[in-house]
Amino acid sequence: MRPALGVNVDHIATLRQARGTTYPDPVEAAFAAEAAGADQITVHLREDRRHIQDRDVRVLRETVQTVLNLEMAASPEMLAFALETRPDTVTLVPERREERTTEGGLDCTGNADALRRVIDALRGAGIAVSLFIDPDLRQISAAQGLAVPIIELHTGDYAEAPTAAAVDTLRRAAVAASDAGIAVAAGHGLTVRNVRPLLEIPEIREYNIGHSIVARAALIGFDAAVREMLAALGR
Ligand code: PXP
Repeated sequence: MRPALGVNVDHIATLRQARGTTYPDPVEAAFAAEAAGADQITVHLREDRRHIQDRDVRVLRETVQTVLNLEMAASPEMLAFALETRPDTVTLVPERREERTTEGGLDCTGNADALRRVIDALRGAGIAVSLFIDPDLRQISAAQGLAVPIIELHTGDYAEAPTAAAVDTLRRAAVAASDAGIAVAAGHGLTVRNVRPLLEIPEIREYNIGHSIVARAALIGFDAAVREMLAALGR
């Protein structure tokens, strides 16, 4: 089976927020992504609202026909928002206000109790929870302890230096998670070029990709950019 593609439409909103206009609209991008064959729409509602706004998520909840995956910090504010909007999946991510993008995965080893409270509340509302973690075996066993059905491996280090060793690190983490009965997704910094070597890791069932698709869309159109990524995934 070929991996699923979640298209992250955050940076459509980045372009809109840069000018405070009403366009381009991430909701329109989500429609286009689904029409092109995307399996999931992913958005990150950041604490500073630098791109996606609360209203975007509310409208997407009404319009997404595939799966809506909300990336968010494990904070009380975000938990309340997720319980209200009910995305299909929540991916818990670490967040620092000053970072340019999500740097590093969530530390599930030190924060297990706080994470467990958020995971339990989401699970109780019927929302599947994924944890965005580094490809580190200690994080995989901590995720196992938290009984999540899915994890997303942070591919940022791999994207910075796509070496065979970096692929191996991701492979070991993906195999460990899969052996533990946890479904494996991956994402961050992936492009049509650097995603290809990862297809040798069949345990990775889903990719969440945003920046490179939106960047390509500016030049070749959103439909073509999503289809190009699907083709890179062998779809
Ligand atoms: N997955 C997660 C958990 C993320 O935080 C991000 C970035 O928001 C992505 C995937 C997409 O990363 P990129 O925009 O670099 O493709």
